[in-house]
Amino acid sequence: MIRFDSISKIYNGTNTAVDHLDLEIHSGEIFGFLGPNGAGKTTTIKMLVGITPPTSGRIELDGLDVLSQSIEAKKQIGYVPDNPDIYLRLKGIEYLNFMGDLYEVPREIRQDRIEKMAQAFEMSTALGDKIQSYSHGMRQKMVLMGALIHDPNVWILDEPMTGLDPKSSFLLKEMMREHADRGNTVFFSTHVLEVAEKICDRVGIINKGRLVYVGKVEGLREKLGENTSLEQMFLELTEHE
Ligand SMILES: Nc1ncnc2c1ncn2[C@@H]1O[C@H](COP(=O)(O)OP(=O)(O)O)[C@@H](O)[C@H]1O
Ligand SMILES: [Mg+2]
Repeated sequence: MIRFDSISKIYNGTNTAVDHLDLEIHSGEIFGFLGPNGAGKTTTIKMLVGITPPTSGRIELDGLDVLSQSIEAKKQIGYVPDNPDIYLRLKGIEYLNFMGDLYEVPREIRQDRIEKMAQAFEMSTALGDKIQSYSHGMRQKMVLMGALIHDPNVWILDEPMTGLDPKSSFLLKEMMREHADRGNTVFFSTHVLEVAEKICDRVGIINKGRLVYVGKVEGLREKLGENTSLEQMFLELTEHE
């Protein structure tokens, strides 16, 4: 469970990126965080995972305050950042072992997880190569595997489908569904509306730092008209602000 309680982020004393966000994401659901570029999605996620502190407000994750109990909170989180260009000089396998060390995942369990995930994402043979030799999609898969190596309860994924091939993207969506169905929380941002429409139990739409809608996609449709596409609804909500 994630709870944002009146969260704001003001950069440089002037630029309000997130403006009094109140939002609850329940265990057992896939929650899609939607919004145009610059809406405040990444900033919200960075506050949630403890990369940048909020200017004001409080964030709770499975009962933990992410600021004052940051280490415990981080152990619950699997985080995929919006940019997968990380540790480029490490080999894939070195990166995964580094993440395994960081999260104190025992050797045998780690080995097993790496093997299974690498096989599923068709990365087994690439693990011996340096990350800088990988394509964008391969780097994305590497970051994903690293984020899940400690089998975290709460998945926080910033634009996770970007650059993924259709097969991996399908696999990830299946994994998200299974994870949520086991009672865990999946929170991800996207600007790809079809993805959101298909897999989200609920969505939140953010525009200029403010939440303009929270609820089911169907609820949005009832509000704005039966025959409108999610894309039209999205534009309507974010353009007339
Ligand atoms: N480190 C930063 N310093 C100053 N302004 C920032 C910083 N990061 C993001 N912003 C600004 O905050 C706003 C929200 O950005 P962001 O959270 O990245 O949106 P999104 O992920 O929805 O595209 C934008 O106006 C952006 O320019
Ligand atoms: Mg972003």
